[in-house]
Amino acid sequence: MRSIEFLDTTLRDGEQTPGVNFSIKEKVAIAKQLERWGIASIEAGFPAASPDSFEAVRQIAQVMTKTAVSGLARSVKSDIDACYEALKDAKYPQCHVFIATSPIHREYKLKKSKEEILEIIKEHVTYARSKFEVVEFSPEDATRTELDYLLQVVQTAVDAGATYINIPDTVGFTTPEEYGYIFKYLIENTASDREIIFSPHCHDDLGMATANTLAAIKNGAGRVEGTVNGIGERAGNVALEEVAVALNIREDYYQATSDIVLNETVNTSELISRFSGIPIPKNKAVVGGNAFSHESGIHQDGVLKNPLTYEIITPELVGVKHNSLPLGKLSGRHAFIEKLKELELTFEESEIVPLFAKFKQLADKKNEITDDDIRALVAGTEIENPEGFHFGDLKLSSNTDDTVTAAVVMANADADEVEVVADGKGSVEAIYNAVDKFFHQNVRLLSYTMDAVTDGIDSQARVSVSIENTDTGTIFNASGIDFDVLKAGALAYINANTLVQKENMGEIGQIISFRDLPTN
Ligand code: KIV
Ligand code: ZN
Repeated sequence: MRSIEFLDTTLRDGEQTPGVNFSIKEKVAIAKQLERWGIASIEAGFPAASPDSFEAVRQIAQVMTKTAVSGLARSVKSDIDACYEALKDAKYPQCHVFIATSPIHREYKLKKSKEEILEIIKEHVTYARSKFEVVEFSPEDATRTELDYLLQVVQTAVDAGATYINIPDTVGFTTPEEYGYIFKYLIENTASDREIIFSPHCHDDLGMATANTLAAIKNGAGRVEGTVNGIGERAGNVALEEVAVALNIREDYYQATSDIVLNETVNTSELISRFSGIPIPKNKAVVGGNAFSHESGIHQDGVLKNPLTYEIITPELVGVKHNSLPLGKLSGRHAFIEKLKELELTFEESEIVPLFAKFKQLADKKNEITDDDIRALVAGTEIENPEGFHFGDLKLSSNTDDTVTAAVVMANADADEVEVVADGKGSVEAIYNAVDKFFHQNVRLLSYTMDAVTDGIDSQARVSVSIENTDTGTIFNASGIDFDVLKAGALAYINANTLVQKENMGEIGQIISFRDLPTN
């Protein structure tokens, strides 16, 4: 039985999702959870992109004890130097060098011949190997590269010292049969006296990322690359939790296992959902809310007689927690803090007082507070505003001409209050116009979605918004939670505007993808 290594690139490729801007603190918390989940290597970022990216990779390198930490580098010496500096303190450092190889990239992006690209690979993989014991090489857009040339590319990288060869399906173009064959061909025809490990890196544009990744494993890949919840640009990357669970459930077929600690899967997925501001779809494979519910009567009857009739994945396998200790009106601060710890929700000492106050308000309205309520309470907390203002109150009135007037009160710790009033064709428009008046920023609302945190009529509402700072083009996701759906929406929009304000004040560094930079 082979063991497949997992490389997680949530913090690099995953952060290229529009609206996802992890803070350095969040990145470190994510890396720690990935280590707990059993991830062998973390691609922690692209150190040459910005001082913030560099600092995040540096801090992650300092805290990982078992997991290798990798940095991405274009085939540019200064990028490799930046990786080296950022990863100095890593116990197991790795450098990931890439260059595009497909005809369309060669002709239009790089304007380089096949031979020139082979020279660049030789020079930069050799340079990376002079600084790193372990080097990974990726031919970007590998699946649209001529197969005979791809073999030459791979052989050049291997001869220059690369240990890991990653075959990115950069635009999600390939199919399982085709991708499987690419792995078989490259593995059979690459010459080396060292062990070379091949990995799939799949994007999900045609919805085939998981199938393609598994086809690569079936054909000899020894490591997989992907992200938690499948986040990433466009349709995203392969969802690593799907690959890990598929290997476990279909071990008979793939004849492969992994070191992923499966019962940490739900914790990992929820953390990424919370920090990325991207809710997990109810029907998402492995971690979606409906993955274990059996609605139809026939299914329920079967499941009661023997769960395996309709349920191939048990909730326990992936760590779905049942309310071990439900909280209620009489629960005190100590029990509340214990619950936060049990759910592995990271929080600062200074956040306890406002969180506990919110918990008390919730307990006044709801008899039994579930784990989902507590997670939502933490996720929907107001983001600290640089100017100290928080959401105070909301009043709405309907006008005779069918418009609505919203009065939003923002307050600060000194009890100074600012009331902003605006009209709109409906309640949400009126509230958002009022919030715009408060912030005076150039923003554009891109999406607004609402869902219920728990089942039942007493559920809290969660509103998630995505807005663009039109001065910089940066997109931010944020959410707000409240019993009142309009207040939840106001909070989400205030949180998103606070992120824009922080960016405008220089408190949030810009996320720079390798695609925003010259190629080499
Ligand atoms: O999808 C891709 O091609 C990448 C490479 C940089 C590995 O993310
Ligand atoms: Zn990618």
